[in-house]
Amino acid sequence: MIDDIYDKLHKWMYKAMHYYRYEATPYDHLDMFFEEYQFSSGDRLVDFGCGRGWVALYIHNRFQIPVKGVEVDRETYEQALKNRAVYLENHKHISAPVHFHYGAAEDYKVEPEENRFYFFNPFSVHVFKKVTSNILESVMEHRRSVDIILYYPTPEYERFLKNKTPFRLVKQVSIPETGDEYDKFLVYRY
Ligand SMILES: C[S@@+](CC[C@H](N)C(=O)[O-])C[C@H]1O[C@@H](n2cnc3c(N)ncnc32)[C@H](O)[C@@H]1O
Repeated sequence: MIDDIYDKLHKWMYKAMHYYRYEATPYDHLDMFFEEYQFSSGDRLVDFGCGRGWVALYIHNRFQIPVKGVEVDRETYEQALKNRAVYLENHKHISAPVHFHYGAAEDYKVEPEENRFYFFNPFSVHVFKKVTSNILESVMEHRRSVDIILYYPTPEYERFLKNKTPFRLVKQVSIPETGDEYDKFLVYRY
């Protein structure tokens, strides 16, 4: 009984420390980013910490590629499913699939075809390290070029990718209108 309570408390504290809250990437910022960065028809995107799914749906609509969102919060995930249902009802002409997966990003097994990974400040760098290591493991099994796209990146994420991984920064798109130095997109490539 005490062990059970302790275990639940431990899990709650872990989530409070490492999993960040929902906030959507503004669509006008995505518009600016995609003036300078494009997906190709063979690409497959995963949004880690997809929230209500708006980024995945935006990209599906704009590039017509398969998209997936991974979300750990049950209520937020269910909202993503509802948004997906309404969206698909109005976009039957796009055949590429849209999937939302309920679970922790760090437990998600990256699929061999997935090659574009999006993060808007979803979790601590501790969790990000695990997710990046899963991506690299998948790349070692199925060799391919992959891009990690960071929106509103923290210096910890940047330092980790630069110093501890083979990913290299290939693009930076700032959003000068906001006057916020963190308001930018960074693309890292392997
Ligand atoms: C800042 S929001 C970004 C939402 C979306 N990607 C966007 O850009 O509009 C981060 C989301 O990550 C989710 N999240 C936090 N930790 C997570 C984890 N370990 N695995 C999956 N999702 C997580 C949160 O519940 C939240 O919905």
